[in-house]
Amino acid sequence: MRVLLLGAGAREHALARSLTSDPQVDDLLALPGNPGIAELAVCLAGDPADPATVVRTATEQHVDLVVVGPEAPLVAGVADALATAGVPCFGPTAAAARLEASKAFAKEVMAAAGVPTAAAHVCATQAEVETALGATGAPYVVKEDGLAAGKGVVVTDDLDAARRRHAAACLARPGGRVVVEDFLDGPEVSLFCLADGSSVVPLAPAQDFKRLGDGDTGPNTGGMGAYSPLRWLDEQRPGLVAEVVETVALPTVQEMARRGSPFTGVLYVGLALTSAGPRVIEFNARFGDPETQSVLARLRTPLAGILLAAAQGRLADLPPLEWSPESSVTVVVAADGYPASPRTGDEVTGLADAAQVDGVHVLQAGTALREGRLVSAGGRVLSVVSVGPDLAAARARAYAAVHRVHLAGSQAREDVARAAEQGEVLVPTTKG
Ligand code: AMP
Ligand code: GLY
Repeated sequence: MRVLLLGAGAREHALARSLTSDPQVDDLLALPGNPGIAELAVCLAGDPADPATVVRTATEQHVDLVVVGPEAPLVAGVADALATAGVPCFGPTAAAARLEASKAFAKEVMAAAGVPTAAAHVCATQAEVETALGATGAPYVVKEDGLAAGKGVVVTDDLDAARRRHAAACLARPGGRVVVEDFLDGPEVSLFCLADGSSVVPLAPAQDFKRLGDGDTGPNTGGMGAYSPLRWLDEQRPGLVAEVVETVALPTVQEMARRGSPFTGVLYVGLALTSAGPRVIEFNARFGDPETQSVLARLRTPLAGILLAAAQGRLADLPPLEWSPESSVTVVVAADGYPASPRTGDEVTGLADAAQVDGVHVLQAGTALREGRLVSAGGRVLSVVSVGPDLAAARARAYAAVHRVHLAGSQAREDVARAAEQGEVLVPTTKG
């Protein structure tokens, strides 16, 4: 099989690693890829969010499957264009990707499908925002309606920050809308559900660390770390994955099919486990970054066959997926100034040294090669991924490797998976 992978982040580097270890994959091409992906794939220049470029590349290169990493190509209609050209694509059409591209649309679909989520108010004016904030009370949750790379959400007790700094700024953009919703308490879980338009196959759940700083302080980011599996979940809510497939993923996939926009790809279900039960925080239409790095590190079933089955509507025929019982921890190394204004152009060293740590591999995201030196070229620069017999071992390995990487001014959380290792993640007891 010849596979074309779209994207340039550490999630795509993880996908590239899994795809090239699948014996079914003869060749991997990446558009545009990054210096890490270039060690595994042929990287081609071009814009992965331009449907014409992607179709031309896929047909010229005779690829059997296109795998879309980020949301931008999906929203731009790359999957639609590939469908017209007859090239199998893992990733939803633009109409189906609206589940991620518009939080208001996602809320509408959830309401129609009876999916449990926070009560929400879609606001187009400042007056509507004021009324909604009055109705929800603190803590205030204000979300930009459109795509914002994980940075469009403000959760705060500060009414002024909610209404002036965030809501007003979002509304000022052309066609700007915000969603104001009830605050959801309880631990968060990311569950990636593969979908082929009608069937759903869940991957192993993971947990993401969205805030920049230790102890969940500082601004929201694209994600600063992750781990899988979630032993605390297996112990406290053993049936949760099946429950979420039945009450969230399948009803959503069925509702999208009913609307004539069947969903193919990853339905990323971001959940809060509240005292009233699981509630959807957000949907994304793609693999999560950095959770994918740890989820794929544990997947034993060859990936390309799974993604092709999803693209061709054959998920129901797949045997059950196989997983390593080991734990994986991912720690993101981010640039100075991330997320507001990451500094780029700093030299990155120590990668080979870090990869010497037992069970560790280093994935690249915001990197570039300049005169033979690896330099930072984005906010999230690396994902350091470990696998170990348990979470304590995996954490120790990941951090031993992180401390071997050098990047001036870099930021990394020191507490990824710490609460889980210490048995401190508690699901609130379900009421009624
Ligand atoms: P989102 O982009 O919707 O995933 O939001 C980013 C982060 O903001 C989530 O991972 C949560 O940590 C937080 N968040 C979003 N919505 C809520 C909510 N309704 N209640 C509490 N926290 C939220
Ligand atoms: N890890 C959060 C995201 O991929 O949106």
